[in-house]
Amino acid sequence: MVHKAEHLRKVLSICASLVVVASLGGCGTLTAYKVTSTIFDGVPRMPPADKYCKDYHEQAMLEELTEEAKKRLGQKTSESEHPPYAEKRCNDCHDKNKESGFVVEADKLCVHCHTGFPKGEFVHGPVAVGACLKCHVPHSSKNPSLLVKPRNEVCGVCHTEPRAAMGLHKTAMSKEIACVDCHDPHAGNDRYFLR
Ligand code: HEC
Ligand code: HEC
Ligand code: HEC
Ligand code: HEC
Ligand code: HEC
Repeated sequence: MVHKAEHLRKVLSICASLVVVASLGGCGTLTAYKVTSTIFDGVPRMPPADKYCKDYHEQAMLEELTEEAKKRLGQKTSESEHPPYAEKRCNDCHDKNKESGFVVEADKLCVHCHTGFPKGEFVHGPVAVGACLKCHVPHSSKNPSLLVKPRNEVCGVCHTEPRAAMGLHKTAMSKEIACVDCHDPHAGNDRYFLR
């Protein structure tokens, strides 16, 4: 009697896995074989059938990809990635028990790790107030250096005022030199943070 109940339990559980298999639309001979061998042996030795099903589909999808698509997948989707984000050290920055949501106040977060930053007697306005996120994103970016915009566009977000040194700037810009080729974006030892 006990034996029968045990057998019935097994059959039911096998049926359950078959339902999973069916609902996934069948997943080829590999899984079919594993499931039947489970039924006949009575002793499930293999991971659950739905796991095989998933593996099988992933494998099949990979095999269907053309070489070109594979290349595309292998390509970087971002130009720059912040190491603590890439390494999934989310809690190095985020702390949901803090009011700010971060390990320290939001405007101190970046310099929490980037200590000794910025360097120079003169500090750029947004950097001085810890507004790093005016120019950077914290996770990953399609621009270099985690920039919110391409390197040669990021300054233009705020600096729309006419340049005193107009001639110089016009020449530079027409040669596609970026602002940060001449100016440090953060700070410097002269008023204009020239490099
Ligand atoms: C270097 C610090 C840092 C790390 C590491 C980090 N975050 Fe963030 N995260 C931030 C900051 C700062 C913001 C706020 C961005 C803003 O206000 O524009 C943010 C915002 C977010 C948001 C809100 C939505 C968004 O994207 O703006 C989510 C969700 C999030 N982070 C998840 C994560 C996860 C998950 C990880 C780990 C894989 C992670 N973060 C790692 C600093 C970090
Ligand atoms: C938990 C520590 C930590 C915090 C907090 C942190 N960073 Fe970083 N950051 C790193 C490390 C580690 C590197 C890689 C080494 C380096 O360049 O110093 C890095 C590199 C960078 C880089 C260079 C990326 C590149 O591709 O060249 C930028 C830009 C940057 N961080 C900006 C920020 C900004 C903006 C914040 C605030 C939102 C911030 N960091 C907060 C640890 C941190
Ligand atoms: C006005 C825009 C702006 C602000 C604000 C800003 N950055 Fe940057 N940052 C840049 C640009 C542009 C670069 C890339 C420089 C280059 O390509 O030469 C950069 C590069 C970096 C780098 C890479 C290493 C380096 O020095 O080039 C780090 C780290 C960094 N920033 C951290 C920060 C932190 C931390 C803050 C806030 C305290 C901050 N930045 C605020 C524009 C800014
Ligand atoms: C978020 C807005 C913002 C962005 C983006 C920004 N700046 Fe500024 N910048 C300011 C503010 C605010 C000041 C201080 C007020 C002033 O002197 O005009 C300033 C001042 C300066 C000064 C000194 C001007 C002076 O007369 O003393 C220079 C040089 C400068 N920025 C260059 C840059 C460069 C290069 C970039 C791009 C990397 C950039 N800025 C991006 C807001 C910004
Ligand atoms: C070829 C190098 C070079 C490039 C590129 C350059 N600058 Fe300058 N910039 C200078 C020099 C040199 C000065 C100082 C002029 C002076 O002493 O009167 C200056 C001065 C400034 C000043 C303060 C005085 C003023 O004219 O308002 C600001 C703000 C500024 N630059 C922003 C920018 C921005 C924004 C960009 C990109 C659009 C940029 N610069 C690109 C060399 C450059």
